[in-house]
Amino acid sequence: MVRNDGKPESLIKLVALKSLFSRQLPKMPRTYIARLVFDRRHTSLVILNPDPVTKDTDEEVIGSICYRAFPEMRFAEIAFCAVNASHQVKGYGTKLMNLVKKEGARTGIEYFITYADNYAIGYFKKQGFTKTISMPKGRFQGLIKDYDGGTMMECYVHPSIDFTRIPEMLAAQRKFIASRIRLKAQSHKVVYDPLPKNWIPHLEGVSRANESAARALAVPGMVEAGWTISDLMATTGQGKDLDRAKNALKSELLGMIVKLEEQQFSWPFREPVDTTEVKDYLTIIKEPIDLLTIDKRVRKGDHYKSRNMLYADLMLMVNNCKLYNEEASTYVQCAQNLETYLKALFAPR
Ligand code: ACO
Repeated sequence: MVRNDGKPESLIKLVALKSLFSRQLPKMPRTYIARLVFDRRHTSLVILNPDPVTKDTDEEVIGSICYRAFPEMRFAEIAFCAVNASHQVKGYGTKLMNLVKKEGARTGIEYFITYADNYAIGYFKKQGFTKTISMPKGRFQGLIKDYDGGTMMECYVHPSIDFTRIPEMLAAQRKFIASRIRLKAQSHKVVYDPLPKNWIPHLEGVSRANESAARALAVPGMVEAGWTISDLMATTGQGKDLDRAKNALKSELLGMIVKLEEQQFSWPFREPVDTTEVKDYLTIIKEPIDLLTIDKRVRKGDHYKSRNMLYADLMLMVNNCKLYNEEASTYVQCAQNLETYLKALFAPR
């Protein structure tokens, strides 16, 4: 770790860092790099070349991450991250990031934020950074500034993970899971005879859509191994076709709901009727429904199996409105407009 503590040996390293960042980040103004690297609130983690020939030269620095911690808000901003050109794609970038995370976890940092250069987004993703910022805005707003041409990314630092021992941790987890599976698994105990050459599975009563999955399930041992018809449908591609059809319907229905929500006359239907205010509503309307509830049902994905089912709910909404409200009211006017619109929207194609 190096920071501007005024000691000559630190300053020599910081000069080498400034020149590494200037070389590797040519679009960054040099003066800006120098200002941040020498700023006393910034810290740099450096990987040094142990070869004595490189001592105190630019070549001594293999790579570095320069960051500023905001301890009171428990986050840090990575200002620069670079590995010397001759050492790139050898794992040093990962090593640097893991060391920075370890240091962050030790000092109470929960999040690292950075503005990633477009070319470096892939690298940051591999280091666990995402474009979704989950840290509350109030913690960083006003403390870090926006950069043009960079994408804000965030990484959560789990306090109990030792980021320098990830491979060992994964290997230990894999070993543990395998040992637990061995306790339950029967696969090494039961051996089935090969299927006879002209084996014909018993498929009576199975629909055509389920046929290949049912054929696979009929193989002795499949059920005992825990396979189900839906697992098999997913793997035989039939499930994929069903999913595709389901997704297509879902996006079509969602598109319709969005169109409806945009219509001016849809305002009375956008949210459920507040029955704490409208006390007698439930005595008259037995099946309340509104666009928000319908929207949620569509997004859930398995409620509406067809356009007609959605149409039925929308017409229920129209009829509820006509039933509860005075004929001459604005609400009924809106319901009539909606009904006309629905007829056109759901007209057979
Ligand atoms: N885009 C996509 N993936 C990348 C990139 C990239 N630019 N660079 C590395 N990777 C991948 C590697 O292929 C590797 O993948 P793998 O684990 O599947 O094999 C993984 O990221 C880690 O690679 P490392 O070898 O650990 O990374 P490296 O030592 O090359 O360092 C770094 C990466 C720092 C981006 C280096 O390439 C570099 O200095 N680039 C130029 C400077 C730069 O762009 N810095 C970031 C600017 S943004 C900022 O500083 C806030």
